[in-house]
Amino acid sequence: MQIGLLGLGTVGTGVVELIEKNNNIIAKRINEHINIKKVLVKDLNKQRSPLVEGKITDRFEDIIEDEEISVIVEVMGGEEPALTYIREALNRGKHVVTANKEVISKHGKELLELSAKNDVNLLFEASVGGGIPIIRPMKRCLSANQITKIMGILNGTTNYILSQMTEHGKSFDEALKEAQLAGYAESDPTDDIKGFDAARKIAILSSIAFNTRITADQVYTEGIDSVSQADIQYAKEMGQVIKLIAMGKKHENSVEVAVTPILLPEDHPLASVGGPFNAIMVEGNAVGPVMFYGLGAGKMPTASAVVADIMEAIKNNNGGKLNCTCYYDFDIMDPGEACSSFYIRLRVVDKPGVLAKIAGAFGENEISMAKVFQKNTINGTAEIVIVTYDVPFRNIQDALSEIKAYKQVVEVSTVIRVEEEHK
Ligand code: NAP
Ligand code: HSE
Repeated sequence: MQIGLLGLGTVGTGVVELIEKNNNIIAKRINEHINIKKVLVKDLNKQRSPLVEGKITDRFEDIIEDEEISVIVEVMGGEEPALTYIREALNRGKHVVTANKEVISKHGKELLELSAKNDVNLLFEASVGGGIPIIRPMKRCLSANQITKIMGILNGTTNYILSQMTEHGKSFDEALKEAQLAGYAESDPTDDIKGFDAARKIAILSSIAFNTRITADQVYTEGIDSVSQADIQYAKEMGQVIKLIAMGKKHENSVEVAVTPILLPEDHPLASVGGPFNAIMVEGNAVGPVMFYGLGAGKMPTASAVVADIMEAIKNNNGGKLNCTCYYDFDIMDPGEACSSFYIRLRVVDKPGVLAKIAGAFGENEISMAKVFQKNTINGTAEIVIVTYDVPFRNIQDALSEIKAYKQVVEVSTVIRVEEEHK
């Protein structure tokens, strides 16, 4: 079985090495030997592994026009030219395996329709959980369930940064640099830090879970750039940890989908997921909660999913393909309507009546406070931390815009959602 590989970076190199390492057992499992025939790169002058000697090209035509190549593996990343290349491969009747969440989260509908029209596979297991199997388990093993909720840590870079800040008191920049060196981060780490990478992944996962198309731009997204060491320490004092959580929840006629930092109780199953590890909790109406855990990024874990997809594409050549499963068209819930408990940290002038004024704004907006404490007085200003009971996000936004206008309020430093005790 001849493969055309588009991209030879972190993931592409892993794919080449894994096929070399496990080819015998792979061949037994699918009754075919996999051979990477050609590899597309951008820069012909870069030093490459001897495993791809004589196979490198910088011309896509060399690959797409090769009739012997029946599977195209896209691990270049970015929207273009990856999207155009995937379209062309599907139109020419070639199976496509991709790890590209940007393309799938934006253009999944069109590409899945194209793959069905051309009766070929379009597989993208690595695009969500890296090495963690999640798409096939959802589409196959959990397909008898109605999925009610997905909650996960879907970005290794941010989880690594938050873990290093929590466990070792490291600075944000130091931890980011380490994550980049280890190959977890996207080429532009803004996508990781601002939550865009996780938003793409939860868009793909929620579309599959709730059978309705959700694109990344419909996901309410906050990153970890507003989380400081002070918040991590307050969370610790309250027996909680801060994680960047991607969440999809089915309501009666709508779907709530968001990526935000969340304070989790220390005994929550996702709280102990540390370093670059990812984890996804799925709740089905028959199976109950199921948890998937593993490495969501890195060379070999991601290659594990990509090569398994190549094998699946070859096995499914004559049927059994995983087609689009978006049968419904649910509304996306307005983020202002989504209810949660909130942690709010603000700095105010340390004078009588200031707390009462803040409490007044909360009361007017029907926000009930569960905890309030004041600490760290510096130069006549005090830090106030408030934890609310469950309330729609819009009420918090309205109260805070009033509070920000008070001259005694120096700043509203952080607003983070709080997950209730795990039941
Ligand atoms: P990477 O290390 O930046 O590698 C990209 C490769 O694609 C390089 O070999 C580059 O060529 C080639 N390339 C880029 N643009 C090209 C163009 N226009 N024409 C030809 N070749 C081009 O990226 P990566 O980390 O392997 O990620 C690849 C994909 O996998 C992305 O979609 C990413 O989101 C996804 N993914 C990555 C991970 C991970 O852990 N890294 C995990 C899950 C999913 P040169 O070598 O010549 O520069
Ligand atoms: N940059 C991603 C992460 C890896 O840190 O999880 C690719 O999905």
